Amino acid sequence: MTPPSTDRFTLIETDAQVALDTLAQDVARGLTAAPKTLRCRHFYDQRGSALFEAICDLPEYYVTRAEREILLAHAGAIATSFTEPVTLIELGSGSAVKTRLLIEALLAHQQKLLFVPVDISQTALEESAVGLLGCYDELEVLGVAAPYDVGLAHLHAHITGPRLALWLGSSVGNFAPGAAVAFLRDVATALDGEADRLLIGMDLHKDRGVLERAYDDAQGVTADFNLNLLRRINGELGGRFDLARFSHRAFYDEARGRVEMHIVSKRAQTVAIDHLDLDIAFADGETIHTENAYKYRIESIPALLAEAGFVLERQFFDRQRRFSLNLAYPRR
Ligand code: AVI
Repeated sequence: MTPPSTDRFTLIETDAQVALDTLAQDVARGLTAAPKTLRCRHFYDQRGSALFEAICDLPEYYVTRAEREILLAHAGAIATSFTEPVTLIELGSGSAVKTRLLIEALLAHQQKLLFVPVDISQTALEESAVGLLGCYDELEVLGVAAPYDVGLAHLHAHITGPRLALWLGSSVGNFAPGAAVAFLRDVATALDGEADRLLIGMDLHKDRGVLERAYDDAQGVTADFNLNLLRRINGELGGRFDLARFSHRAFYDEARGRVEMHIVSKRAQTVAIDHLDLDIAFADGETIHTENAYKYRIESIPALLAEAGFVLERQFFDRQRRFSLNLAYPRR
């Protein structure tokens, strides 16, 4: 993969050593804790990002299709709600496939567009930039390869003028409610211009079977995505996980309002992680909790956004009301 060589693409990278140190610290902390956990941000190495793109195309993973349906219907109205040219920012952009709908809608009303994708995966950023720059001559891309918090600091410091920030795909659902509010408060602080807006995707509660199939698909792509965390620890931290001795589990915990993903140890075993000088003991059936995907009730969304300092301006749904897109502005 060759990074785009054009004066329309700039990349702000995170130091690779800092990224490796963060992974090492998080793995050491999470696997020596009880219960064991791993942070879902570490799913997205090159292979994990590609697997996530494959998940988005799965028949069971309705999230991407529902959100795309909403954008197909409403991207034009969202774009025309701005009276001046805007800068488009996307948190956790990945391949930015759905973002194209907004890019096209905005370019119908302004001559040029600066797109600022923030993603932890540098490869995903570079690949999406190549694709986008090849399609739109009027586009300039400033990629920020960093976790959200670091990306947000760049936005605050470097991007001025009206901004439309996207946080799509219900990525907010991967944060615990308190952490989601805290992060959204930082987003609200960064969006300090009069015309600035946030467009945030939030997935909705629904039938248990639909939710559980979305996170445990028949082809096993989500299982591969989940177990890729162990593969990553093997590759980057000298882990000795035998992936055949672990399995994937996903279930909807209705009381907690979330789908949980776990990696399950199929037997009692001890696994060394050489670079961390650790031996991790697993009981038979013990799990590593790798992800929460919170779901929301339509009526609770305005209050959640208000707690984070936003005013909900407009809400959009797909025809089956599986998913919501919420346009909000920071309370002044
Ligand atoms: C990125 N995030 C919003 C996805 C989700 O639905 O929580 C990650 C994912 N995990 C399993 N499938 C998809």
